[in-house]
Amino acid sequence: MSLTSPEVSAFADRVTAYLQRLERATDALLPPASTHPERLHHALRYACEGGKHLRALMVYAAGETLGVPAEQLDPAACAVELIHAYSLVHDDLPGMDNDDLRRGRPTVHKAFDEATAILVGDALQTFAFEALVNASALNAEQKVRMIRSLAHASGSLGMVGGQAVDMASENLTLTVAQLESLHARKTGALILVTCQLAGIAANAPEAVEIALERYGKCIGLAFQIQDDVLDQIADTATLGKTAGKDLAQNKSTFPSLMGLEQARQRADALFDEARDAARSLPGNAEPLLWLADHIQQRNH
Ligand code: IPE
Ligand code: IPE
Ligand code: MG
Ligand code: MG
Ligand code: MG
Repeated sequence: MSLTSPEVSAFADRVTAYLQRLERATDALLPPASTHPERLHHALRYACEGGKHLRALMVYAAGETLGVPAEQLDPAACAVELIHAYSLVHDDLPGMDNDDLRRGRPTVHKAFDEATAILVGDALQTFAFEALVNASALNAEQKVRMIRSLAHASGSLGMVGGQAVDMASENLTLTVAQLESLHARKTGALILVTCQLAGIAANAPEAVEIALERYGKCIGLAFQIQDDVLDQIADTATLGKTAGKDLAQNKSTFPSLMGLEQARQRADALFDEARDAARSLPGNAEPLLWLADHIQQRNH
């Protein structure tokens, strides 16, 4: 067995290469900043910079576990990051969370203006679907299935619906079950779909899809619980976004409902369940196990 085969080399060694692939795919898709209207295109690119790119890495990790060549994963990795970037730009707007800082820099509406930020979100969303339509390494059925899954995860039954419930829940005390359902939509749906898109690229059978979904759901919920915990315990410089916003805006969060320690324990249990799901997959689970550890250890 060659030393560079996925079976023996760690996913961590390939993360830089995957992130470079993501950057190339995104750069090829988005018009240069000098394209008319320049202000919009400059802001579009600004909105895509920085970020941990965990959703793209989930596409690559799940795809690698299932033996999918990277060129068949690039469009999905790019598409989920574009939807995610759009969701952050809109999440930060004054009509939503009203945040000034994102990824260690002024938010798009602060660096540019509100109208530009709204339009950046709109355009990033359509570019995400264009990335999938353009995917030359995928067949037509795979593209249609990916477009359907991403549309569903992003829309009013997924991320957008979760954002609506999040806004409507300010100043209310939710039950833990209600908060889980909110988190499953606003953050979980887009994280779950990263695994589903990899499954589509792999033409995975149903049993594999089910295990992948379990992994994606557990990571998705654990991720938002961590986001809530970090909002409470981390500082603004580390987070790259304003700390303590949830309390200031009177949002229900896992730590506010069950206390910090129990919230952490719930997230840890979900990471363990995600690792179990990864081990139940037929391929080499190492990429997904590494990613679960990597996300669990994050401090921003
Ligand atoms: C932050 O997501 C927003 C949530 C969905 C909780 P990330 O922490 O993945 O943000 P970036 O992309 O790394 O900035
Ligand atoms: C944002 O959740 C989720 C989406 C953008 C869909 P948050 O409002 O908790 O994210 P942060 O904390 O601002 O990154
Ligand atoms: Mg929000
Ligand atoms: Mg926010
Ligand atoms: Mg948050």
